[in-house]
Amino acid sequence: MSTGQGNIPDDVIEAVLARSDIVDTVSKYVHLTKQGKYMKGLCPFHSEKTPSFTVTPERQIFYCYGCGKGGNAIKFRMEIEGFSFPEAVKIMAEENDIALPEGQGFSVIPRNPEKERLYEAHELTAKLYHFLLKNTEHGKEAIAYLRARGMHDKIIDQFQIGFAPDRWDTLVQFLSKRNYDLKEMEKGGLLSARHESDGFIDKFRGRIMFPIHDRNGRVIAFAGRILGEGQPKYLNSPESLLFNKSRTLYNLHQAKTSIRKLRQIILCEGYGDVISSWEAGFHNVVATMGTSLTEQQVAIMKSMAEEVVITYDGDKAGLAAAMKVIPMLEGAGLRVRISVMGDGLDPDDYFRKYGADRFRHIIESAVSTTKFKLIYLKKHHILLEEGKISYAKEALPIIAVLNSSTEREVYLRELSSELGLSYESLKQDCNLLRQSMQKKMSSGDNKEKRWNTGRHKKGQISTPTLLPAYHAAERRLLSLMLQDSEAARYVSDKLGEAFNIDDHAAIAAYLYAYYAQDKPPDISRFISSLHDDRLEKTVSSISMMDTPTDWNVQVLDDCIREVLKYPRQKQIDQKKEEMMKAERSGDFMRAAQIASEIIALERQ
Ligand code: CTP
Ligand code: MN
Repeated sequence: MSTGQGNIPDDVIEAVLARSDIVDTVSKYVHLTKQGKYMKGLCPFHSEKTPSFTVTPERQIFYCYGCGKGGNAIKFRMEIEGFSFPEAVKIMAEENDIALPEGQGFSVIPRNPEKERLYEAHELTAKLYHFLLKNTEHGKEAIAYLRARGMHDKIIDQFQIGFAPDRWDTLVQFLSKRNYDLKEMEKGGLLSARHESDGFIDKFRGRIMFPIHDRNGRVIAFAGRILGEGQPKYLNSPESLLFNKSRTLYNLHQAKTSIRKLRQIILCEGYGDVISSWEAGFHNVVATMGTSLTEQQVAIMKSMAEEVVITYDGDKAGLAAAMKVIPMLEGAGLRVRISVMGDGLDPDDYFRKYGADRFRHIIESAVSTTKFKLIYLKKHHILLEEGKISYAKEALPIIAVLNSSTEREVYLRELSSELGLSYESLKQDCNLLRQSMQKKMSSGDNKEKRWNTGRHKKGQISTPTLLPAYHAAERRLLSLMLQDSEAARYVSDKLGEAFNIDDHAAIAAYLYAYYAQDKPPDISRFISSLHDDRLEKTVSSISMMDTPTDWNVQVLDDCIREVLKYPRQKQIDQKKEEMMKAERSGDFMRAAQIASEIIALERQ
């Protein structure tokens, strides 16, 4: 029996869950301390100072009251390592010596033969280009070019850099000899179709080749840089079965260990920047490959780190790009610092020009986002008399939003000495601005957005105590149903899926199906049958409630009544409103009719 997630057999999932204790799994990443029935620690998925991340050994689940992430041990590995469900199951099975089904290795990952062939072809192609660069006449010029840029063998090997000769059919020959379907290879981005006649030619010709890997280290695409000047500077693989640019970060496969250890990412724009940073000793470095940062890339980073150091080009475009990504990263709850390369250099140029030590210094002394915004602003205002004032005008709001008065003072003093304006007058202006901002805040909406860049407010936890009665009743029911199949059967008969909240109805439906397979109550196992992030979180949240395990029909009936009452109550409220409207408009006949409808509804 399979649960609809590829072809992972249920018994494999269950064996994995049985052997992967949630406390052991989480403890490898989070320091947990015991607190009664729970273990608590600092959430690895959002930044916080007081622990709201909870693990319940008894139920084998985790849940964070701060960010709402929750689930079982498989889910935890997915979130923290960025695995897909099949990847997590496969790796956890291997770690626990769980025998995998015989046959084609392991049938967990839904095998797509075309995809497998493309992976293989990319792997071979990377090897071929790397070989041609290092060992053949074809690669001579390219090697000389790389050497001139300061790249030595070790780094060329580390990044598997290669060379595609300036010929039409190097790869065509290579792939057809190995019986690859050339049409398929063209679709996968390795070859191009010939314009006039049938047939195919190499897509990359006369270019230095940078293989692009997925996070597991498989080659999924290439970027080919022209030797010297020319257009386009980089030729990139198209999006394919393997390559989705917006979900890829260059070098993540090599950087992930260091990232997880340091909880920090150095984010660059280009290939050369990554390679230079790596050489300077920063192994937690990845790049967006020139295009603007996507939400998916942010999510990947958020799942692995707490801080991002933006290391973009020091030119105007680089600064503007940095300004754009700051709110995206901060919005996801990541801490952000920016290292500012002077002279309009990119990190790679900077490294080549000034050497490793100064490069390291620049990265290590990366500045806060506030400081960066001020630097950025200053560049826009020439420091003439009127330039000073307009700079100060725009700088003050950036400083005024800072909640720490010490921080405000530091920046104000800097501003004062930079502009030759008195600190006292700047401070006064800043305070006035703060007051007017606060006033706007308390009257306006959207408080969160203006003052709190995505961080969770202290003490803001999704406590179920303030929920409307029907909502609380639904959670209570589900909590009991999750622990006891008899309770679930009773609710199934009396209420079915008539929960008011859609997610609750869905969970109930899944739960009925789960018990129908004669499975015992097991929250962690049940969660793995859901395959829906939101439902998993909801189940985890519900399971964290301290509902007593013993129940009686009376309790269930009370809750069911509450649940059924709600739609009727909503109807009654609606009718009351209509009635009032009718009265106001003088239509007393209609008002009386509605009143009798209300009475009928209330009697039910
Ligand atoms: N890029 C791209 N296609 C282009 C130009 C740029 O994909 N035609 C991407 C590459 O990932 C490149 C990054 O954008 O590394 C930054 O571009 P740029 O600063 O122009 O290149 P550099 O990385 O500095 O390349 P080099 O140092 O070799 O000149
Ligand atoms: Mn460069």
